[in-house]
Amino acid sequence: MEDARAAGRRVGFVPTMGALHDGHLTLAREARARVGEGGLVAVSIFVNPTQFGPNEDFSKYPRELEGDVERCASAGVDVVFAPDAAAMYPEGEKTRVHVHALSTPLCGPFRPGHFEGVATIVTKLFALVGRSVAVFGRKDYQQWRVLSRLAEDLMLPVEVVGVRTVREKDGLAMSSRNRYLSNEERAKAGAIPKALGAAARRWNDGERDALALRAMVEAELRAVADSIDYVEVRHPLSLEPYAAGDQALVAVALRIGKTRLIDNVVIGEEPPPA
Ligand SMILES: Nc1ncnc2c1ncn2[C@@H]1O[C@H](COP(=O)(O)OP(=O)(O)OP(=O)(O)O)[C@@H](O)[C@H]1O
Ligand SMILES: [Mg+2]
Repeated sequence: MEDARAAGRRVGFVPTMGALHDGHLTLAREARARVGEGGLVAVSIFVNPTQFGPNEDFSKYPRELEGDVERCASAGVDVVFAPDAAAMYPEGEKTRVHVHALSTPLCGPFRPGHFEGVATIVTKLFALVGRSVAVFGRKDYQQWRVLSRLAEDLMLPVEVVGVRTVREKDGLAMSSRNRYLSNEERAKAGAIPKALGAAARRWNDGERDALALRAMVEAELRAVADSIDYVEVRHPLSLEPYAAGDQALVAVALRIGKTRLIDNVVIGEEPPPA
């Protein structure tokens, strides 16, 4: 990395947990577009233990390093970095990074410690990678906002970029966790982008009542969800409850079967997801 930079190459960085899909590869292509053909694109693959809760899927999270390395090569990635847990969390380490306010709403209460785990590992990775453009997906919208703030507040030499959610044909956001879904559950999951799309169209027709938008999305999700963590309409930058403005974030988290899925749309800015 240092050698590349010394040779005048820009560095593009895409942190992931592996089990790569076209969403991840789109981030790698965006990194390439940002740094140019002469630049260096690096993907990290690390299933970060500190961002999983005790009852979450850390141990069964899909791990397929060989296939991932091939996918990276075919997407023109120059470097794959896949450290083990001891390398990232050496014995005796004591530091955690917390981004206030932005970590609190939405997924915050449902995944205690999650964003602290994410902020900590990404700070470590940024320290290793150094001056770079780091590309994240807006599927994990809150994560993207947390990490943008983190890079700015800690004055890290990293430009954080957010890429629009890459979706399947029916609009479902691509996610490594989609593979947990049975065929029946996968069919139900198509209701998520449809509900967000319906809210976007309602917004485009002039609806600005956050409660009404929320209620319609929730009603559509109720029909398919085994449980709903939240349906929220929020300010896209502050993540405060939406009060006024030309754009609003509609974000959802729900379970279909045992699989927790998240999705969002920034209405007034993105086209309806389905
Ligand atoms: N559908 C997608 N479109 C764009 N970016 C995505 C998409 N899915 C994941 N990403 C981004 O890829 C990066 C790595 O995410 P991660 O490895 O956790 O994949 P994931 O699909 O979100 O997996 P999981 O759903 O199991 O968390 C993050 O910046 C994430 O936002
Ligand atoms: Mg993820």
